[in-house]
Amino acid sequence: MLPRSALLLVASLLAALPVNADGLYTKKSPVLQIDQKSYNQLIANSNYTSIVEFYAPWCGHCQNLKPAYEKAAKNLDGLAKVAAINCDDDANKPFCGQMGVQGFPTLKIVTPSKKAGKPRVEDYQGPRTAKGIVDAVAERIPNHVKRVTDKNLDEWLSEDAEVPKALLFTEKGTTSSLIRALAIDFLGSIKVAQIRNKESNAVEKFGVTEFPTLVLLPGNGKEHILFDGELKKGPMVDFLSQVAPPNADPAPAPEKAKSKKPSASEKKPKSDEPSEPEDSTAEAKPSVPVQAPAPAPAIDTLETSEALEAACLAPKSGTCVLALLPESDAEPTQPAKEALETLAEIAHKHARKQTKLFPLYSIPASNTAAKALRAGLGLPEDAQSVEVVALNARRGWWRHYDPSDSADFGPVRVEAWIDAIRLGEGSRNKLPEGIVVTVDEPAKQTDHDEL
Ligand SMILES: *[C@@H]1O[C@H](CO)[C@@H](O)[C@H](O)[C@H]1NC(C)=O
Repeated sequence: MLPRSALLLVASLLAALPVNADGLYTKKSPVLQIDQKSYNQLIANSNYTSIVEFYAPWCGHCQNLKPAYEKAAKNLDGLAKVAAINCDDDANKPFCGQMGVQGFPTLKIVTPSKKAGKPRVEDYQGPRTAKGIVDAVAERIPNHVKRVTDKNLDEWLSEDAEVPKALLFTEKGTTSSLIRALAIDFLGSIKVAQIRNKESNAVEKFGVTEFPTLVLLPGNGKEHILFDGELKKGPMVDFLSQVAPPNADPAPAPEKAKSKKPSASEKKPKSDEPSEPEDSTAEAKPSVPVQAPAPAPAIDTLETSEALEAACLAPKSGTCVLALLPESDAEPTQPAKEALETLAEIAHKHARKQTKLFPLYSIPASNTAAKALRAGLGLPEDAQSVEVVALNARRGWWRHYDPSDSADFGPVRVEAWIDAIRLGEGSRNKLPEGIVVTVDEPAKQTDHDEL
């Protein structure tokens, strides 16, 4: 674990500290720690249901709730969001007030409505146990899963024939949280339905022999594919991702799109946040701009050639994704910043879902191995550009991320690229000689071969 992170690079732009440095929950907690800005991004604008705890670290009932709340977060992982906001933090006080919080802890369930960004918010008054919380939240997970039968299956299949579809064969008459969550992930790109085992025409048509079975219909009359992996959220998302990437959550901020054409006015700290409530108590605070921290922790940085070699260029190193940063005397370039933010979000998302992802690192231009790597891979050596590459020293391949002409390092494109690597899709280049370091190692090695 290399703790020094690329945060240093963006420190000049992000005036605030990581979320809740002194909150009730540690960084490793499954509870998502939020503030006002990330509430809007991660909760209010999500297609997922969330529960949010408004707390103060000193409050005894909050401390008592913590184990149950963390357990609920684990149980709801990948199905709903379990978040907490520290109302003792001055920056959050106005927001907690706005939300009508009068005592701690206050638990609110936030359910998406038909209107984006305008969720239904209700107080959770049930028992403060993991089960009570999980049941109440799971019940409110939006259901975009259509139930079909032999009778209307063909009709469903022929609706929007070009749109990919996923069909779950199940013995159950109810719609599980898991399939609902899957439908939410692919809302707008894959239509999801479920059908019961007793619908024998359908069962026969798709050659389903056991239940539950997930079938993917890529659309446009392409042959259907039966999923034979583990029936867990992560592998199922990966499976469906072969036809469409899951929705980025949080959705890429519109300000990112704007900042693709950097202008002189971009230099000054952003003050155009819509309707930040005026904090009447703010005078007393040091005059740092009110800037919410990025929700995702920055990816680790490999500062030295030794660190880079040990992590990614040793003969046994597995897949690594590296962001080779441009020379930066002053502040990082816009594409570099965007690439780092996007990679951080992707890593964070996988960490939250506990799905396996190879490590992502940023490599500053000052790392002496960065120049050699650029040269070896035939990338621009003047180090004016950010280059994102994936490589696997053990298997001897590498891939270059193509940001297109618009220097697009946004989440949708980058995540599609990462997912393709995870699924072993697309072409790989042979890693040129001399990239992987040679080490003298004892002939006998324990085999830690992982996927
Ligand atoms: C929510 O769903 C819509 C489709 O209805 C999709 O376009 C959007 O990206 C989703 N938003 C998030 C944050 O997942």
